[in-house]
Amino acid sequence: MRNKLAAGNWKMNGTSASLAEIDTLITSHPTPKCGVLICPPATLVGAMAARTKGSAIATGGQDCHADTSGAHTGDISADMLVDAGASHVIVGHSERRQDHHESDADINAKAKTATAAGLIAVICCGESDDQRVAGKTLDIIGAQLAGSIPETATAENTVVAYEPIWAIGTGKVPTLEQIGEVHDFIRGALIKRFGTEIGDNISVLYGGSVKPSNADDIFAVNNVDGALVGGASLKAVDFTGIITALENS
Ligand code: 13P
Repeated sequence: MRNKLAAGNWKMNGTSASLAEIDTLITSHPTPKCGVLICPPATLVGAMAARTKGSAIATGGQDCHADTSGAHTGDISADMLVDAGASHVIVGHSERRQDHHESDADINAKAKTATAAGLIAVICCGESDDQRVAGKTLDIIGAQLAGSIPETATAENTVVAYEPIWAIGTGKVPTLEQIGEVHDFIRGALIKRFGTEIGDNISVLYGGSVKPSNADDIFAVNNVDGALVGGASLKAVDFTGIITALENS
């Protein structure tokens, strides 16, 4: 049985006042029947981990550096995230691939460092609108997976998130057939590379305009093991609806 995970990515949103949302989440889902993860901005990782201590909600970072320490002004190491109380880190989000020109090789190195530090790496992939229109989606996803996931990946230390770039923050959602096609492809690629024992047990999340209103349908798609949620993770009232949908899937 693969682990189901409802993961929230707050991106560059939230100050200490936003932590009140977490109290609501804990109250509404004291014992969720799926994993629940919130990745706040780096400034809130320590406070969120402290606030969620003893609850079922895990805390994650949104990025880490590939090096374990050193002269990298403004960056955060995997060990620092662990020290702050994080259990997960997102790597290779399309916004970092775009804004910071991160390559598959960069992401591979980050994932390797993160997992060596004891974090679970949530490795993202996803095609642009142009790439989908050109019929290149599966080629792009295949190349991103091959390049970004390190050899050291296991079902315990790695989660994959499929996030079509054109669906992020746009309200546009792929059809259930399109989601299913890519998730089946990812599952096949993971099994081919890592064998059934690992490849069939790595959780694969869908991300891109997931909301309480579409979560039931998305979670019913084969090989969708949860969601990586941006906008709808900022408010507990929305995110609880997504958690409930995943629990019932
Ligand atoms: P939205 O849910 O806001 O579309 O964002 C998805 C995402 O990028 C999560 O990492």
